[in-house]
Amino acid sequence: MALFTREDRVIVINNKPEYIQRILDYDYIIRREPSVVAIVHNEDTLEKLFYGSKEILVPVYRDIHRALAQHRPTVAINLSSYRSVVKTTEPLLRDPNIRVIVIVAEGVPERDMKSLIKIANQNHKTIVGPATFGAITVGALRAGVVGGDYDNILKSRLYSPGSIGIVTRSGGLLNEMFRIVSRNSDGVLEGVAVGGDVFPGSTILDHVLRMNNDPEIRAIVMVSEIGGKEEYEIARLIREGKIRKPIISWVVGVSAELFPWRVQFGHAAAKANSEMEGAREKLRILKQAGSIVPESFGDLERVIREVSDRLELKPREAPYNPLPMDFRKAVSQGLVRRPTSIVSSISKEVDGEISYRGKRVSDILSEGGDIVDVIGYLWFGKQLSPRFRNFLSMCIVLLADHGPHVSGAHNAIVAARAGKDLVSSLASGILTIGPRFGGAIDDAMRYFYDAVSRGISAQEFVEEMKSKGINIPGIGHRVKSKYNPDRRVQLLIEFARRELSSRKYLEFALEVERETLKKSEKLILNVDGAIAAIMLDILDQEGYNIEEMLGLGYGNAIFVLARSVGIIGHILDQKRLKQPLYRHPDDDVYLI
Ligand code: ACO
Ligand code: LMR
Repeated sequence: MALFTREDRVIVINNKPEYIQRILDYDYIIRREPSVVAIVHNEDTLEKLFYGSKEILVPVYRDIHRALAQHRPTVAINLSSYRSVVKTTEPLLRDPNIRVIVIVAEGVPERDMKSLIKIANQNHKTIVGPATFGAITVGALRAGVVGGDYDNILKSRLYSPGSIGIVTRSGGLLNEMFRIVSRNSDGVLEGVAVGGDVFPGSTILDHVLRMNNDPEIRAIVMVSEIGGKEEYEIARLIREGKIRKPIISWVVGVSAELFPWRVQFGHAAAKANSEMEGAREKLRILKQAGSIVPESFGDLERVIREVSDRLELKPREAPYNPLPMDFRKAVSQGLVRRPTSIVSSISKEVDGEISYRGKRVSDILSEGGDIVDVIGYLWFGKQLSPRFRNFLSMCIVLLADHGPHVSGAHNAIVAARAGKDLVSSLASGILTIGPRFGGAIDDAMRYFYDAVSRGISAQEFVEEMKSKGINIPGIGHRVKSKYNPDRRVQLLIEFARRELSSRKYLEFALEVERETLKKSEKLILNVDGAIAAIMLDILDQEGYNIEEMLGLGYGNAIFVLARSVGIIGHILDQKRLKQPLYRHPDDDVYLI
């Protein structure tokens, strides 16, 4: 009776996606349905995994009993740590559908294993492990990671069922035997690593007997280790003809006898406490009983080849699905390429420290830099001139806030009083910035630049805009006027007259104001317009490519950055004042 079939359904205890993916990869390679039908872990969710190049969702259950009832798995792979192996394995042993349970954990206490083995025997279940890589029935199911990675699966032809059954303690040795057997016979049909603990859930003898009774298996390869005495039982069964098939045996640890003291090999069970448990004595008894014992481990190839030839085992080549390579691996090997999705030039980590256009933040700080220098690097890609730095710093101070009345602050206040969090309330305020409120700087830059470039007069410009029915960006204010001037604008003009030798854009803007004031005292050069004009003058005098910068948002960015400070202030103020929900008063709404 084969250990596994193509119809087996697997439940995995403890969600380790990479491990589970390797099981599904084998399913795909041998062209069987995905074997893993449920995972048990901390919460009910779905785990996205690959079946070939297609993504599948494997249900994850918090409750193992629900998973068992829902999917009726026949094989379980327990990835729990040794601490919870008993708690998680017991339900599996008592489940009516589960046949085989692979326990991967190392260090499972012997008393725990003894109790689990007792329950397993009572319920006629097979435990493989603990401390195992698992087991495989080639072409049916890989319950674990035996056989190694995809390359090794191909090299060992573990996609094409052969006639050899292999039993080892060690997973590493099992992988080695896969390669040897595949090179010297028609291939592997089954491989089991029983694990290296003193009390394995199933022993090498158990699997040798099972393979002996499996008509599909023509010969058995057994690689045990020093320690324990089950080889004597195997020898007896061979002598009594109860193991009839050719069985090739090797016992790892022959070298242990070269030491004058008892050597503990890698596995807990791998220690010969007497000469009987030594490799040479075991090999002698097995050979004497009729097992085929090579002269050395290296002689195994020859012996396996001899047996295979005698049984006339001819390699069969079953078709398989080539496994798609993970994208990251393919990229690392230069096998695939794809255009990057994002190009970014302004900042990156260098030696674990963020740098802005190559300027390390620690250097900015050590040189006495501040947020305006950071704006220089991140927005303009360079260290700004002192004059430009001072201008931007002044703009941020002047634009930070203009009271709770203005539309941006108002909306943020209303949102805050509606109970919205800071980010949502800030967004509400920032989203109010637009062509009429705070967002006229870029348009003003574009129009002023264009008019000056064309050499038209302010009067011609005003008439042109009027004929188009466009309000001049940077002109006009709801409450400021010729007789209630905006102090911010005055301060900006004073800065320009002090710092700028040429002010052609500002002078043009002031000419425009003179024209518009003829129509209304409120059509002043507003703070957006003043910033736009002075910015143009600075960019012009410092050799920036203005044409390239117009319309990108540099102007409005200043207002957004600055006004975020004020809007956040209003939101915190409203929260601090515990202001209630705002509702507009009826007497202030004209209902049509
Ligand atoms: N250019 C030309 N004419 C204008 C301008 C302007 N910028 N602004 C208003 N007018 C005219 C209107 O066309 C209207 O003329 P009409 O009476 O012949 O119809 C008259 O002035 C009154 O217009 P309103 O829009 O009612 O005036 P309001 O005071 O509401 O406008 C506003 C204020 C929105 C700022 C307006 O001046 C405007 O749109 N300006 C351009 C955008 C701008 O610069 N916004 C930034 C303001 S500052 C800041 O937000 C920090
Ligand atoms: C501001 O800076 O927010 C104000 O000048 C705009 C306004 O509407 O008063």
